[in-house]
Amino acid sequence: MSEYGSKSTLKIPELIVFGTNSIEDIGEHVKKYGKRAVLIYGGTSLVKSGNHGRIVDILKKTNIEVIEISGITHDPDDRTVKSIVDRVNSAGPDVIIGAGGGSVMDVAKAASIIATNGGEVKDYWAGKVFTRPSIPYIAVPTTSGTGTEVTKNAVISNTEKTYKKSIRSEHMIPDIALVDPSLTFSVPSDITSDTGLDALIQNLEGYTSKNSGPITDTLARKGIELAGKYLLRAVKNPDAHEAREGLALASLYGGITLFNAGLGLAHGLSHPIGIRFGIPHGKACAIVMAKVMEYNYPARGEKYTETGMLLSGEKDGIRAFNLLLEELGISTRLGDYGIKHEDIPAIVSESKGGSRNFNPVEHSDDTVAKILEELL
Ligand SMILES: [Fe+2]
Repeated sequence: MSEYGSKSTLKIPELIVFGTNSIEDIGEHVKKYGKRAVLIYGGTSLVKSGNHGRIVDILKKTNIEVIEISGITHDPDDRTVKSIVDRVNSAGPDVIIGAGGGSVMDVAKAASIIATNGGEVKDYWAGKVFTRPSIPYIAVPTTSGTGTEVTKNAVISNTEKTYKKSIRSEHMIPDIALVDPSLTFSVPSDITSDTGLDALIQNLEGYTSKNSGPITDTLARKGIELAGKYLLRAVKNPDAHEAREGLALASLYGGITLFNAGLGLAHGLSHPIGIRFGIPHGKACAIVMAKVMEYNYPARGEKYTETGMLLSGEKDGIRAFNLLLEELGISTRLGDYGIKHEDIPAIVSESKGGSRNFNPVEHSDDTVAKILEELL
């Protein structure tokens, strides 16, 4: 069977809207569900960028009543979700809008589903199943990275912030993903770099995952090409709107790809590395990605060659990826982030399950520990 004959599925939100200034239509989208919306967002960055005022003005002009819930911080925990669920339930909205980065969109997604199903995040971590649809949810990303606007899971930290774990359900796929690149125009360079690397690596790991197939490969290839062309440009020149637009599209393709094809070992390792050492998610993925590519090479050599060609027109995909990190000023030595030999067992054990299951090459914990040793 050729690569075009392998199994490939595509699950996406009921509606994906992509386009610069597409936020202008958010009132019309909300109206399909009713007139009362809860708007969940982080805080200062949405306000400072002018995006908060922009969204609220549009909603008010469309006669939507807006109830605001703000103050969501990075790595939101189960207690935060609980307090938001309480506020959502007392507001009784027709629709929830989550406008922000991955943390905000995940909290809003979790609150939308728990509000109708009851219980707490912990119950669902322990195996409780969502049986009812969520409150209609519109996800509006303001960074180009996580792709959570098109997926069925939400990553939440435990109260002690010692681990992150997903809750997931088909009922959690946002009803609408509204991806407007103009909302990302004022994202600072460091966040553009961290989130853009996540977008690139979600395409790359999805492209080479065990479950990859022709439908997602098409999106992933384009996502890798767009990230190769625009990531560095958007970081070095934040006002380059074309670069922001290309990166936003790469991020959307990465989200669809990861949801349908799964990811791999780099993502599996990124969670403990990120949470234990305070390293942004995209950067944590990037630090280990090239080593994971070396390990997976026997199974995915052709696709890594294609990756190199798409990224920068060179046949060695690992070299092309490393050169990009060099230009972004990112070290791939774990030691540079304070990670030591004695931290490795915990990282390995906390990386189990999830994304690692989709890595194209089987790997034992000992192998993973060896990969990390080589990166110290
Ligand atoms: Fe990611």
